[in-house]
Amino acid sequence: MPSMRIGILTGGGDCPGLNAVIRAAVRAVEVDRGGQVVGFHDSWRGVLEDRWEDLTVARCRGILPRGGTILGTSRDQPYSRPDGAEMVGEVVARHALDAIVAIGGEGTMGVVRDLHHDGIPVVGVPKTIDNDIAETEMTFGFQTAVQICTDAIDRLHTTAESHHRILVVEVMGRHVGHIAVWAGLAGGATFTLVPEEPFDIAEVAERIVARHRSGSWATIVVVAEGARPAPGTLDVAAPVVDRYGHEVLGGIAHVVAAELQERTGMETRTTVLGHVQRGGSPVAFDRVLATRFGIAAVDAVADRAFGDMVALKGGRIARVPVADAIGHLKLVEPELLRASSVFRPPLGRPPA
Ligand code: F6P
Repeated sequence: MPSMRIGILTGGGDCPGLNAVIRAAVRAVEVDRGGQVVGFHDSWRGVLEDRWEDLTVARCRGILPRGGTILGTSRDQPYSRPDGAEMVGEVVARHALDAIVAIGGEGTMGVVRDLHHDGIPVVGVPKTIDNDIAETEMTFGFQTAVQICTDAIDRLHTTAESHHRILVVEVMGRHVGHIAVWAGLAGGATFTLVPEEPFDIAEVAERIVARHRSGSWATIVVVAEGARPAPGTLDVAAPVVDRYGHEVLGGIAHVVAAELQERTGMETRTTVLGHVQRGGSPVAFDRVLATRFGIAAVDAVADRAFGDMVALKGGRIARVPVADAIGHLKLVEPELLRASSVFRPPLGRPPA
């Protein structure tokens, strides 16, 4: 059998663990199969512009704990130009690639589906700190983001308590509240506001007042960037849209904080964690999951399972048709939403 040649790229927002996938895939190709890996720079942009580098075990030395992606990333994609898919096909042929392994979020998985449909050999590896990709129970980067948020919330508790303040912490999660719910539970938040459950600011304020009635209480409100008020309860400006048509979120915490200060009369401050959640070294779980995904993607190429996405199912590595994973998001489990609600202060009773 001729030795394997794969192309690899990272697309969309970066995420801790991307380098661990690259390293594992390179190892699996070069050492296990005596093959070669071509790394395309800046996602599909590097494929279209034929910008790439040879990836070797030596080149990947030391990257396992490193955040970001050594290949660079972008939100560019081939279907933004009419001849894009054809150009990808030409690059695959020119480099004599068995397939391209595309590591990315929903947008990148959509491209994998469409390229597969157009006859180009591709395999998907899901990534996002938001953990919202369907058909995989976890994406790498998520646990790292949760830990970063939890550490921040731990710190915010002591300053909130010292000043008897309400502190509103905004975390990422544009469509779903996985990060908010996990970090809220792990950090002991008083309230967690998520996109899955539109919130009523009047009720949040009322419950906080009930909690603070005893005197010395502080409150931490975790809000996912995509959380929205129930219709007709509070005005929130529409987000701006970037050049890819992607809504630039961030700032709901300021609205929530201003409203809570006004309604409760308590001093309120805001912390927006932003991209600090995506930077830096992945935690051990994410390194291991990313490594397993990298090896599984190479196995998928060897089995010519094109159009598949590697996934975690029941704790095991699996493959799913990428088409099954897009078009719908993985929401927070009702059981976790309920766990979070258990810690809300009760209305009109002395604080627990
Ligand atoms: O999709 C992951 C994510 O981290 C979202 O939670 C966030 O809204 C978005 O990326 C921000 O991405 P960027 O600032 O890179 O456009």
